[in-house]
Amino acid sequence: MRSHEAGVLHAEGYGGPPIYLPTPGDVMELRRELWSQNAQRDTAGRLTVAGRDVVSLAEEFGTAAYVIDEEDFRARARGFRDSLNAAFSGLAGADVYYAGKAFLCTAVARWVLEEGLGLDVCTGGELAVAQRAGFPGERIGFHGNNKSVAELREALSYGVGRIIVDSRQEIDRLGALAAELGVRAPVMVRVTVGVEAHTHEFIATGHEDQKFGFSLNGGAAFEAVQRILAAPERFELLGLHSHIGSQIFDTSGFEAAAHRLVGLHIRVAEELAYHCPEINLGGGYGIAYTTAHDPLPVDRLGVELAGILTRELTALGDGHGALDQVAQVTQVPRVAIEPGRAIVGPSMFTLYEVGTVKEVTLGDRRSRTYVSVDGGMSDNARPALYEADYSCTLANRHSDAPPMLSRVVGRHCESGDIVVLDEWLPSDLTPGDLIAVPGTGAYCRALSSQYNHTPRPPVIAVRGGHARVIVRRETIEDLLALDAD
Ligand SMILES: Cc1ncc(COP(=O)(O)O)c(C=O)c1O
Repeated sequence: MRSHEAGVLHAEGYGGPPIYLPTPGDVMELRRELWSQNAQRDTAGRLTVAGRDVVSLAEEFGTAAYVIDEEDFRARARGFRDSLNAAFSGLAGADVYYAGKAFLCTAVARWVLEEGLGLDVCTGGELAVAQRAGFPGERIGFHGNNKSVAELREALSYGVGRIIVDSRQEIDRLGALAAELGVRAPVMVRVTVGVEAHTHEFIATGHEDQKFGFSLNGGAAFEAVQRILAAPERFELLGLHSHIGSQIFDTSGFEAAAHRLVGLHIRVAEELAYHCPEINLGGGYGIAYTTAHDPLPVDRLGVELAGILTRELTALGDGHGALDQVAQVTQVPRVAIEPGRAIVGPSMFTLYEVGTVKEVTLGDRRSRTYVSVDGGMSDNARPALYEADYSCTLANRHSDAPPMLSRVVGRHCESGDIVVLDEWLPSDLTPGDLIAVPGTGAYCRALSSQYNHTPRPPVIAVRGGHARVIVRRETIEDLLALDAD
């Protein structure tokens, strides 16, 4: 069911469960595809993660809390790294940058470093976290459509390996800063390829009506390359970059983007005699928030992306049929991708305590159960922002009670403060029970707020039976600390 601007009561499918959510045979079943690899139930029905049960986690750290399965995060990071390395070994190799915007803190930056990935940041704040973690500058990519002069200066001083330039003004600013600091700025050009991909669909648009990057069709991307190459003492051009969207479940959008990016890569080689060493296809790889989502396994993703690059290079290389002949036209570029959600999303769940359970009559002899928890849109803005769907489960005990269709809502002063729009929960659910919402690693803590002066929950990392705080809970003192009077 989707919301409606006139209110939820006007929305299509009002009252019943969505198609992907039939009445479950076992309301306690954990759907493996929605949970991190070390999440399971113990014999008492309690949800456990990496050897810690959520009842003891709630006692020790309180609720609401984000709980991250550290080994799962590391395994997903390694999975991307290994899959891309293997798939691109016959080409010029590949790099994986973890997109820190999905969720970043010092501990996570260290995990990313230890697992051999690069890090993509998009503000001076994210760069500061990377620096605190001791992340080497050369393995960082710095994005953003309006980076400040101070941020650009800091990036150059720290030796950030790739600054992804996004406008003509930024190229000029960066050139001036490079001259001031006596360095060459390593840059990639963010190209707007006219491809928009979301979930299973992509649209190849003629126009590129968005704020990021240099338009390919309008010629701005080629001009940006020319501008950069005209000042070799100020810039080192490392390549071309595109990012086409989010929650993408197949590679057709990447194929369309790669076609255009490789076209520009070859034009630059042929007309400007410059061989860009890299191509970056960005992030956007989808995850399962509910059983309606069907993500691509990571090894298939690597193989498909490598196949796309091979096809595009050989087809566009002036009719050359084989990769070694491409060398007559251009160098085969190294490829990079920037997954955020697909690494951290499934590794985390949010643990809430139930405060109230309320039956609401919908008319027509139907009713809905509203379950209020001790969090909401301040710790997960995505349902309110994008109508994002989630699932959840009873986490602190076993139940044999029949399933009831429920809506889990937060504690904030907004009727759109929805945590899980539709879910089957046991009908003996009661205040004091714990509920866990999987898949909250990406863009939840990162987009969190202090709305209604709500202190933000902590992030607890669990590994090998041991739990530790990697981001502490905010306090009322934290909330008041900025008030100047
Ligand atoms: C340039 C760029 N790279 C990577 C990402 C990460 O996307 P995702 O978390 O969907 O993989 C984003 C997300 O907005 C982005 O803008």
